[in-house]
Amino acid sequence: MTYNLLKGKKGIIFGALDSKSIAWKIASRVHEEGGIFTLSNTPVALRFGEINQLAAQCNALVIPADATSVKDLEHVFKRSMEVLGGKVDFVLHSIGMSLNVRKQRDYDDVDYDFFQKTIDISALSFHKMLQVAKKLDAINEWGSVLALSYIAAQRTLAGYNDMADAKALLESIARSFGYIYGREKHIRVNTISQSPTRTTAGSGIKGIDGLLDFTDRMSPLGNATAEECADFSIVLFSDLSKKITMQNIYHDGGFSSMAMSLKAMTQYNKCLDEEDYL
Ligand SMILES: NC(=O)c1ccc[n+]([C@@H]2O[C@H](COP(=O)([O-])OP(=O)(O)OC[C@H]3O[C@@H](n4cnc5c(N)ncnc54)[C@H](O)[C@@H]3O)[C@@H](O)[C@H]2O)c1
Repeated sequence: MTYNLLKGKKGIIFGALDSKSIAWKIASRVHEEGGIFTLSNTPVALRFGEINQLAAQCNALVIPADATSVKDLEHVFKRSMEVLGGKVDFVLHSIGMSLNVRKQRDYDDVDYDFFQKTIDISALSFHKMLQVAKKLDAINEWGSVLALSYIAAQRTLAGYNDMADAKALLESIARSFGYIYGREKHIRVNTISQSPTRTTAGSGIKGIDGLLDFTDRMSPLGNATAEECADFSIVLFSDLSKKITMQNIYHDGGFSSMAMSLKAMTQYNKCLDEEDYL
């Protein structure tokens, strides 16, 4: 169902790689709701991903950028204002990458150059995006900036590695910048803490299949899908959420409030029976 929630709104969507990407689903939903936008991703992602298909479907220009480069980000914001005909109303940061996770370096044996890259790509890029946008005065009053986070920012999850630290910083940046941007320009800055989701980045998490099953059994409403994340994102981009800022909002079927569920306990007890555990 569509509601025309974003009619007349303009934006920039960072991080759509392929049709599994959360940013891809959000872009499609924004398009359905009448919003117009540019898309951005790294030159490598443009070569190997499928972003041009999405761009054709949504009639969007693709602007290559490494989100760790202030110069690239300045270009994205300037070019977006040119092609969209003025300042934007929403920005999506849907970017994450850890070489320690990719190369299977454990948290107590990380490579520190990789660690710095994780922080730069997955968290600092959000600050850079906000600072560039503010300096260029690129976002309209009551605009909405959103990044995607994960519960490992607050709770320890085996295998999430240095991405947990990056997500903690990402959520902190949303609060710290959200205060300044709200005070000066009435611009909202929030993060959505999404359920584990089977995407290219998500599949890098150690034991993703078991994790997806566990969180699904633990969540009274089940895991939130990427499509459901897109539904929630359009509300946060719309005028219906004007006074929500500096928040990390769990979009996880209730997982974050659980400690043990009947479904998870039933499954766990089966394993104990099998192993004849005393
Ligand atoms: N999949 C999950 O389980 C899950 C859960 C919660 C939060 N998230 C977060 O959602 C966001 C999107 O991830 P996804 O799951 O859709 O996976 P994805 O792999 O589709 O998206 C990650 C994106 O980051 C981009 N990227 C990497 N380095 C970049 C750089 N230097 N500059 C610009 N872009 C860069 C990639 O090209 C890719 O498009 C990430 O922040 C991720 O941490 C994912």
